[in-house]
Amino acid sequence: MSLRVIPGGRDEPALPGLLVVGAAEVVTMAGGPRGGDDQAAIDRREAASAGGPGAPNAPAVAIWEGRILGVGGLADLERLLAAEGYPLERFDRLDAGGGTVTPGLIDPHTHLLFAGSREGELELRQQGAGYLEILAAGGGILSTVAATRRATADELAAHGRRWLGEMLEHGVTTIEAKSGYGLDLPTELRLLEVAHDLDADGPIEIVPTWLGAHAVPPEFRDRPDGTEAYVRNLLDEQLPGIAAQGRAVAADVFCEHGVFSADQSRRILSAAAGYGLRPRLHADELAPSGGAELAAEIGATTADHLATPSDAGIAAMARAAAEGHPVVATLLPATTWFLMKDHHAPARTFIERGVPVAIGTDFNPGTSPTASLPLAMTAACLNLRMTPDEVLAAVTINAALALGLADEIGSLEGGKQADLVIWALPTARQIPYWPAADLVRTVVKRGRVVLDRA
Ligand code: NIG
Ligand code: FE
Repeated sequence: MSLRVIPGGRDEPALPGLLVVGAAEVVTMAGGPRGGDDQAAIDRREAASAGGPGAPNAPAVAIWEGRILGVGGLADLERLLAAEGYPLERFDRLDAGGGTVTPGLIDPHTHLLFAGSREGELELRQQGAGYLEILAAGGGILSTVAATRRATADELAAHGRRWLGEMLEHGVTTIEAKSGYGLDLPTELRLLEVAHDLDADGPIEIVPTWLGAHAVPPEFRDRPDGTEAYVRNLLDEQLPGIAAQGRAVAADVFCEHGVFSADQSRRILSAAAGYGLRPRLHADELAPSGGAELAAEIGATTADHLATPSDAGIAAMARAAAEGHPVVATLLPATTWFLMKDHHAPARTFIERGVPVAIGTDFNPGTSPTASLPLAMTAACLNLRMTPDEVLAAVTINAALALGLADEIGSLEGGKQADLVIWALPTARQIPYWPAADLVRTVVKRGRVVLDRA
C-alpha cells in the first residue's frame, strides 16, 4: 500500500460529480447532534442486506460540486440522479473496496500550534510531580510559551503542517485549533494567523479559538496581583486586538483552581461573547472548579475535559440540554490516559442525563501529545465506557456541534459538505478496536480525494 497525499484544497477535480461505491457499510450519522439514548443511534447502511458491496443496489454516496447529493442504494441513486437531470457521465467513481464509509472525523479540541516539546515532564510525573505543580514552578504550559514566543510564523506553520498531515492520515477532515501559547497579543495574533493560513492551504479545515486565558505569563505571575492584572490585560488589550484581527471564532479559558477562577472565566468569556466569540471552557479537568456550572450558566458552546465535575455542574448541564440549549461535553480521554489518572470523565452519566458528548484529542505538548483521533476513540471506549457507536457520534456530528458547524459537516446528508473517509475496515465498529493502526484508505474533503492509499 503506498500513501498518496494530495496537497492543497484548491484544484478542482476533473469531474463535478463523485459516486462512492463498493462499500460494505456506510454510516451517515443523519439526524442531527444527539445525546441520551440517541448518542448510540446511528444510521448504518450495510451492503450485506443488498447482496454485498458489489451488488447493484449496495449503499453508495453521491456528491456534486463538493456537496452531498444523497446516500442510498447505487441503482436507486442513479435513477434519482437521472430523473433530476444530473449527467451520470459527469460522475467519477470512487471504489471503497469493501471498506466502510463514514463522515470525515472532526477533532473539536486541539492545541495544534506550539514550538518545542516537553518529554521531560513525563518523567517528572512518573516521579510523582503534579501537572499544576510543574506549571507553578514555571514549567508546563509556560515552557511551551517561551519556545512559542521565539518561533516565527513559518516555523509554526511547518510544525502545523506536519501534525495536520498526521491528522489527515487518521481520517480527520476538520479540527479546532487554539492559540494559548503566546499569552501576549503579538504571539496570540501570530498563532491565529497561522491557523487561518493553514486552513486556507487545506485540505483540513481549521476553526481557530483564542485561548489567551491559558495560564498567567511570566511577566505577570511574579506580581502580587498577577492573575487579576493579566485578566485586565486580556480584557483591555488582547481581546480587542483579537477581535479586530477577526480570525478567532471562539474564546476559551482554562477554568481551574490555581489557574483562572470561575468568576474570572465568566468575565473573560462574557466580554469575548460581546465581540461575537463563542464561549468554551477547559472545565473541571483536575478538580471541581465550577466550570460545568459556569458553562451551563453562560450558555457555553462546550465544556471540555470534565474529568472531575461536581454533581451540581452535571445537573446544570443536564438542565441546559433538556431546555434545548445543550453545552457539548467535549471529553478528552487521551489526556487523562497520558496524565496517568485513574479517574475519568463521567461520560456514562452525561449520556444518561441527555448531554451530547463529543470526543477530541486535546493534541498538545504537555498532556496529550497525540494527533490521532482514533486513538482517543479507543480511550473513550476503554476508560469512558462509551460504545463504538456512541464514540462515532462523538467525533462526527456532536463534534460538529461543538464547533458550531452541525449544519455543514458531521454527517452524510443531502446539502452538506462532502467530507468523508473510506476505512479499510468492514464496519465502523472496528475503528476504536484496532488502536494505533493505519486504518484509513481514502479521505475526501469537499468532494475531492485528498488522501488515497488504495
Ligand atoms: O487541555 N489544561 C490546559 N491545557 C491543556 C494542556 C496544555 C499544556 O500542558 O501545554 C489541556 O490539557
Ligand atoms: Fe486542551
